[in-house]
Amino acid sequence: MQQETFPVELAELAAALQINSEIFNANREALALRKEVESAARIFIFDHETQAETFTRAYGIKNALKCCLALLSANIDPAKYENVRDLGCGSGVFGLTFAFLAANPMLRLTFVDQSPLHLNIAQTVMADSGCAGSFSFLNQTLPPDLPSSSDLDLISYWFCENGHVASDANLIDRLIGREAIIVDYEKVISGIVDHIPKYLIVKDRWSVESDVPLHMRDIVGDESVRSYGIHIVRA
Ligand SMILES: C[S@@+](CC[C@H](N)C(=O)[O-])C[C@H]1O[C@@H](n2cnc3c(N)ncnc32)[C@H](O)[C@@H]1O
Repeated sequence: MQQETFPVELAELAAALQINSEIFNANREALALRKEVESAARIFIFDHETQAETFTRAYGIKNALKCCLALLSANIDPAKYENVRDLGCGSGVFGLTFAFLAANPMLRLTFVDQSPLHLNIAQTVMADSGCAGSFSFLNQTLPPDLPSSSDLDLISYWFCENGHVASDANLIDRLIGREAIIVDYEKVISGIVDHIPKYLIVKDRWSVESDVPLHMRDIVGDESVRSYGIHIVRA
């Protein structure tokens, strides 16, 4: 599926990301990291202890746009979910995108990551965002099980760094609550679908591409973005 341009609200989100935060501006290190990732020609595992800030500058906005495409492709109403988690949140772009589209003062959104550096970035990004809802930040390594369940889990580019979970039905089951939207590399998504337990149903699956708005191409580092993902629900 090819979308020609981002819908208006996504362009607004993109503008908000760009204006609100210095955090996402690519610097020399970020450009060098992108180059290293491209030349690796494999799934690149980042060192989030030392590269959190550079990763965010290199991929924060690009991943936000992919998450936007995912939320549209999943064809959900973000306003109907109140208890949401962003697992392996990094700079929090999936949660931010969700909160932006939901515009729901009742939203309770928990950001979870094992890296305190990433959680600090996510906290700043959400404070700057002006989005409605209440936001909390949990420093935890996943799995094991989280302290509370959720209506919806948002998970972007976490499974690619945790392949043992992607290929284990029991761990997938323990990770997610009632529903999940997962964005990742195509082959990681295929791996999850192959191992998903019977009582979790793949409601939607997408591969969608969209042009990046002209004024954002430098910061995103590409003319278009592609989002692979699935929406899983419990039977
Ligand atoms: C590739 S980044 C993706 C960040 C963000 N979701 C995005 O799309 O930009 C992966 C994130 O998952 C976190 N992470 C990786 N393995 C984890 C684990 N086992 N438990 C918790 N967080 C983890 C990393 O610290 C990092 O912030």
